[in-house]
Amino acid sequence: MTNKLSVTRATFDDVMVPNYNPAQMIPVKGEGSRVWDQAGTEYVDFAGGIAVNCLGHCHPAMVQALTEQGNKLWHLSNVFTNEPALRLAQKLTDATFADRVYFANSGAEANEAALKLARRSALDKFGPEKDQIIAFNKGFHGRTFFTVTVGGQAAYSDGFGPKPGAIEHVDYNNLAALEALMSDKTCAIMMEPLQGEGGVISPDAEFVKGVRELCDKYNALLIFDEVQTGFGRTGSLYAYQQLGVTPDILASAKSLGGGFPIGAMLTTAEIAAHLKPGTHGSTYGGNPLACAVAEAVFDVVNTDDVLAGVKQREQLFKTTLQQINEKYGVFQDIRGQGLLLGAELTEKFDGKARDFLNASAAEGVMVLVAGPSVIRFTPSLIIPEQDILEGLARFERAVAKLAG
Ligand SMILES: Cc1ncc(COP(=O)(O)O)c(C=O)c1O
Repeated sequence: MTNKLSVTRATFDDVMVPNYNPAQMIPVKGEGSRVWDQAGTEYVDFAGGIAVNCLGHCHPAMVQALTEQGNKLWHLSNVFTNEPALRLAQKLTDATFADRVYFANSGAEANEAALKLARRSALDKFGPEKDQIIAFNKGFHGRTFFTVTVGGQAAYSDGFGPKPGAIEHVDYNNLAALEALMSDKTCAIMMEPLQGEGGVISPDAEFVKGVRELCDKYNALLIFDEVQTGFGRTGSLYAYQQLGVTPDILASAKSLGGGFPIGAMLTTAEIAAHLKPGTHGSTYGGNPLACAVAEAVFDVVNTDDVLAGVKQREQLFKTTLQQINEKYGVFQDIRGQGLLLGAELTEKFDGKARDFLNASAAEGVMVLVAGPSVIRFTPSLIIPEQDILEGLARFERAVAKLAG
């Protein structure tokens, strides 16, 4: 038996590296879209572990998959393959453009693999000159040094010494600026098919098509970072499936494991061939526990019922948020796709998104921010209608306090 010490939020400051500043309350239990803290206070969860808990907390299919696999086989390393990893890879390739899968443990690692693959493939096919990676301002791709440098916020990559080179940025939705930067030296474009952390910003349909055409013109690979948009979040298994544009490489994580850490890089057989044995790897990638859970998540999420339900819930969120806005006039825009939604505050509340997050928590609803002035909602894809209405009623009380 483990000796369970009694811990509080003060313990965090005593024993944890201070790179996070978590809420004062400590959640201890979750069920569906409700969470309870140490004091027994209940919250409606619109944050979903930052777009991760796509089936809410403790979904029975996930608990069953984890328990069954937990009683069978936990870990092997990639010296051996395993059945859950092979089944999951088969399902992912059957459901997407991809023929090959590489498993990792997080979004950053899936993107890291994507970037390394793009660089290696360009080197093999065109030589060392073709190394330029272009990404977008306000984009977010993770916190490894390569991915954070490709991300579009220099503040996150400054201060750690020399950065990986040949990485450039342009504004999202600005095709002319992208075209001006591109040449035969361009190795890859990395983009989110809807910017999440950067403020819930959708791409223009023409922009995404234009990016694909430019990639084809210059023999550059198109990498879609679907870490946040993927696995049902926008109402299709992956967002690219609604955009009419197919990437060459796709990174998936977050909802893929529904709360169990896993990431995946998907690509074609031809591109995958450039990551030969020994070129890249991970001890835990494709771990049987993670893959068994992700397989259970896949079976629930990749159904017409759940995906259509995401679109219905999107409508309910948007109309109710609009009704709140008619009363209080705090938002200048309510946007996003599926259950990746953002409400941008008016100028009067510029930079105050975190105040809304804190006031919401005090009323019993967990929300997120996306930058200083956007409140973000990324709940479970199967959140019951009554939980949406109850959570938004609590959110409205928070808005009323701040607007009043
Ligand atoms: C689009 C996108 N890419 C990558 C990441 C990084 O994922 P992880 O935190 O699992 O490394 C995130 C996380 O927020 C993300 O939203």
